[in-house]
Amino acid sequence: MLVLGIESSCDETAVALIEEIEGEEQPRLLSSVISTQIPLHRLYGGVIPELASRNHSTNLPGVLKEALEKAGRDISQVDVFASTAGPGLVAALLVGNTAAKALALAAGKPFVAVNHLEGHMLSPFITHPQGLVPHLALVVSGGHTLLVDVQGSGNYRLLGRSVDDAAGEAFDKVAKMLDLPYPGGPEIDKRAEQGDPNRFKLPRPMLHEPHLDFSFSGLKTAVLYTLPKLVESGNPNDLDEQTMCDLCAGVRAAIVEVLIHKALKAARQTGHRVMAVSGGVSCNGALRRELSAACARAKIELILPPNSLTTDNAAMIAFAGLLRARAQDFSPLDTPVDPNLRLAGAQTRA
Ligand code: KG4
Ligand code: ZN
Repeated sequence: MLVLGIESSCDETAVALIEEIEGEEQPRLLSSVISTQIPLHRLYGGVIPELASRNHSTNLPGVLKEALEKAGRDISQVDVFASTAGPGLVAALLVGNTAAKALALAAGKPFVAVNHLEGHMLSPFITHPQGLVPHLALVVSGGHTLLVDVQGSGNYRLLGRSVDDAAGEAFDKVAKMLDLPYPGGPEIDKRAEQGDPNRFKLPRPMLHEPHLDFSFSGLKTAVLYTLPKLVESGNPNDLDEQTMCDLCAGVRAAIVEVLIHKALKAARQTGHRVMAVSGGVSCNGALRRELSAACARAKIELILPPNSLTTDNAAMIAFAGLLRARAQDFSPLDTPVDPNLRLAGAQTRA
């Protein structure tokens, strides 16, 4: 079975092909092409939805052609077309989604509407030798921070989520405050490597509360109050280089400590011995290092996607589409896109 996935929920236009061959344990990721619009949106300090959708529309045909060429397959060989249906920017979602539906309609093949968060959540298993196994999922993207008890494909129980800003959003908003380029996560991560995480003790909200929810919006306020204490102008561009790095290290340490603490608590509560982390923030250097060490101490197997599969990509959409296709769980062609789409089965908190 050959599945073609299309992702266009934000500022990445992506197409991937994944193939399942009878008798082989693991599907083969044949190609995963991503055309990023980050340099364009960086000019505006964040994603401009209309620009994103216009660029998806112009980029998608070329990305599709390249993905098919790299995979060595013809469009006529595709058995299932999958695309992101939400959450995301509605005008951006519509481009990839409508293209996938049109291709499915023209070829008379089935279509699968994929939840972007489910795509992220399953992404660590694309390259995992045992395929999808029951686990505790920590999804840390730009828009969402979730802890999910995953028993199998489509069998999800939400354990905790951010009640305000997502972890990625916190990185991005603090970076904007520090006048660092968009997206802020990698910029803070890079500077944090040279900084002292203990110089600024920033808040760790909800760290010791018994539930598994997160709150990151207080970090912005803490940084906002710290700035004028460091430079009279309050202008981040007047900070010396080391102070900027120390501040970035402090922000990163606060976010990472809360994520790790809550994820381990969730693993203890659910009894899961396997944890998987996904979403753009999962390529954060400190999160990967410190969570790996914490999981090793707790004798929990940690599954991390390769960096190329952490931020938005279509391989995760094709993989989620493949799991649904295995169960013959296809979507009608009039399935709408939904900018606020929730994770099926994970609407309610345990
Ligand atoms: O999963 P993703 O590509 O898009 C969404 O679905 O939202 O995640 C993007 C987020 C952005 O907030 C970005 O700043 C963050 O991931 N990110 C990072 C790093 N790389 C990307 N955050 C922290 N450290 C990084 N190295
Ligand atoms: Zn994403």
